[in-house]
Amino acid sequence: MKEQIEKIMAELSELKCQTEKEVEEARVRFLGKKGEITALFDEFRSVAPDMKREFGQRLNVLKKEAQARIEALKAAAQTSSTAAQSEDVTMPGDPLDLGSRHPVSIARQEIINIFRKFGYDVAEGPEIEDDYHVFEALNFPPNHPARDMQDTFFVSAGHPNPLLLRTHTSSVQVRTMEKMTPPIRVICPGRVFRNEAISARAHCIFHQVEGLYIDENVTFADLKQAILLFAREMFGADTQIRMRPSYFPFTEPSAEVDVSCNICHGKGCNICKGTGWLEILGCGMVDPNVLEASGIDSKKYSGFAFGMGVERIAMLKWQVNDLRHYFENDLRFLREFSTCVEV
Ligand code: DAH
Repeated sequence: MKEQIEKIMAELSELKCQTEKEVEEARVRFLGKKGEITALFDEFRSVAPDMKREFGQRLNVLKKEAQARIEALKAAAQTSSTAAQSEDVTMPGDPLDLGSRHPVSIARQEIINIFRKFGYDVAEGPEIEDDYHVFEALNFPPNHPARDMQDTFFVSAGHPNPLLLRTHTSSVQVRTMEKMTPPIRVICPGRVFRNEAISARAHCIFHQVEGLYIDENVTFADLKQAILLFAREMFGADTQIRMRPSYFPFTEPSAEVDVSCNICHGKGCNICKGTGWLEILGCGMVDPNVLEASGIDSKKYSGFAFGMGVERIAMLKWQVNDLRHYFENDLRFLREFSTCVEV
């Protein structure tokens, strides 16, 4: 009898049932009127009186164990069957959220595509640059305020040619002139870094596209025409440009370019602050000192250069009034560009 009790105990602990029907069959097998445990209780009557106490206890423990096990299996079978019943296989699946291009990426690619059509190649350079390529070779005097800690993130200061995060992509002009011989026609898209407080109009990280064209007899008229064609492709065929005299150490003469406001078409609105014009880029004829510093004969060759902020172009094109939207990754903002197609 002892062995039988142990055998049934072992079977109970191994017992597995998937459905309520199987649980009921197990209950009948162990605890039913003709069940194995019930049979042991019948046998118990003929146990010798001095053994009754021990076997009585063992049998009670076995019965309780069997009842608890059957209850637990029943509860498990019930929950799995209700879960199976409540599964609605006709329900549509979870939607897959497709990402979309970031507006800065769309604008950057659009600028590249336009200049590619004009025959420009794309050149890239390092984001961690040295003072020589960002400032010195571009004719910045040694004490120019842009070298100051206020504007530039230095990686290694105190060195004669310190490493720094480039503050503009004009450094790629220098690297290109060092490597190539004219004719040179490149645009240089890339990330730039400035030690600026973040606001609606400024950020410490942003993107620029630089342009450089060097050949024999390149004139300011060529520059003007290239910028006009770009502006019309970017902002619409009726776009006008105007050039205002300006100063950059690396160009002479230098200009800032405005486009006619694409919102009010020159009448004056709050985007153009009533002027009818929006500033888009800086440009000029490459200073002969800059050509010579990179080994290009300034008597034979001349060239023009320009540089624009990608975020700024994107703000003007899509009337975004705060630069910070581009960096906050708010899906409500980003999704507005999900159907944008580049030219
Ligand atoms: N590097 C200038 C800036 O970051 C932009 C610029 C102006 C680039 C005039 C040029 C240029 O190539 O000719 O503000």
